[in-house]
Amino acid sequence: MFKKLHDDGAGQVAVTIDGREVRVPAGETVAAAALIHGLLPFRTSAVSGAPRAPYCMMGACFDCLVEIDGVANRQACQVRVAEGMAIRRQDGAGAAAP
Ligand code: FES
Repeated sequence: MFKKLHDDGAGQVAVTIDGREVRVPAGETVAAAALIHGLLPFRTSAVSGAPRAPYCMMGACFDCLVEIDGVANRQACQVRVAEGMAIRRQDGAGAAAP
C-alpha cells in the first residue's frame, strides 16, 4: 500500500507490532512503520468503538493513537521508531499509564 520514494541508507531497527517482531526503516515514524506492516485499524474510538487509522500524519487528527512501550495514547505519527520498541493497537481510551 505504501512505498518509500527513496532509501536514505539509515538501516533498520527491530520492533514488535502487536507482539509480532518486524524490522522497519530506522528514522521512520511509528505510524509509517505500522502502516508498512499492515496495522489497521490503529485504535478504536472511546465512544462508539469505531475503527481509526492515521489520517493527517502531522499530529492534528489524533486518529493514530497507539500504545508504545506500555504507554497509551501516543501519537504514532509524531514518534520515531527505536530499537526494541513495542507498539500495540489501542482499544478505546487505552489503559492508564503506569
Ligand atoms: S495521523 Fe493525525 S495525529 Fe497522527
